Amino acid sequence: MSTFNTATSRLPDDEVLASGEYPLTRRDLNDVAAMIYSDAGISLNDSKASLVYSRLSKHIRALGLSGFREYCALVSSPEGAAPRREMLSHLTTNFTRFFRENHHFEHLKSDVLPELLSRAKHGGRVRIWSAACSDGQEPYSIALTVLSMMPNAADYDFRILATDIDPKILAQARAGVYDEAALETVSPAMRKQWFREVDVQGRRKFQVDDKVKRLITYNELNLMAQWPFKGPFDVIFCRNVVIYFDEPTQTRIWSRFAGLLPERGHLYIGHSERVSGDAKNLFDNIGITTYRYNGKPGGKK
Ligand SMILES: C[S@@+](CC[C@H](N)C(=O)[O-])C[C@H]1O[C@@H](n2cnc3c(N)ncnc32)[C@H](O)[C@@H]1O
Repeated sequence: MSTFNTATSRLPDDEVLASGEYPLTRRDLNDVAAMIYSDAGISLNDSKASLVYSRLSKHIRALGLSGFREYCALVSSPEGAAPRREMLSHLTTNFTRFFRENHHFEHLKSDVLPELLSRAKHGGRVRIWSAACSDGQEPYSIALTVLSMMPNAADYDFRILATDIDPKILAQARAGVYDEAALETVSPAMRKQWFREVDVQGRRKFQVDDKVKRLITYNELNLMAQWPFKGPFDVIFCRNVVIYFDEPTQTRIWSRFAGLLPERGHLYIGHSERVSGDAKNLFDNIGITTYRYNGKPGGKK
């Protein structure tokens, strides 16, 4: 496999960047980086050597392989399709929280939902997309915000599409079962109304009520690939994922979102992200990491 990291391509390929049970050389890291970039758009460089080492070495042991060389050969071969998908799950960061960056939910509630809920009540269609939804805490937070204003929202044509590249994390999202600690940022009233206590192998957990789940459809989707829908979405949440992509990829994603939003449709992004490049002309920045599509042409589907 060719060297991915051009900035470091003059550095020795056999230099060991992290070690323990198996040495991880620059060649290994570059091979892993090339695969994860082509599969998910995620950029890795030498600074991520110990992360790659710690996330993949257990996997290498479980597969009974001799080290990173053999692992890279396997996951880049047709027989290695399953472990390659596993590699993606191991290398993606799934951290999330209910009502993370709560100002977005406050804005949604005060400035966006009143009009959308009124439209739904009058027979209109409303769609919200949580792109890169991780284990569901983001789409459930959107749904809980909606239900706090309209408890029967699911009786109308009001739906939240929640997608992620990682099928394992989506299975958790669909189940909607969380530790009590995860519910710290959910108000006591919402907990009481929309979660029920369940016993999972002797452990006390909390499951999201089916009435909340009814609002959400979960689907596997790679933001790098074709998107199998035309929109429009009234609101898009795409938070804390493009930070792992390079700048041209980020710009392309923002433009593609513009192609799916109606004029004045909203886009919420992560706390360390900014709409960048040419896509800046398509959005008005109306608050902290909060954008509105201005209707100018240039959005790409
Ligand atoms: C850090 S979590 C963010 C979760 C949530 N949006 C939030 O802000 O709390 C990033 C998520 O992006 C997903 N992801 C990474 N690359 C992706 C891609 N190319 N397409 C879709 N999802 C991706 C990961 O599987 C992970 O669940």
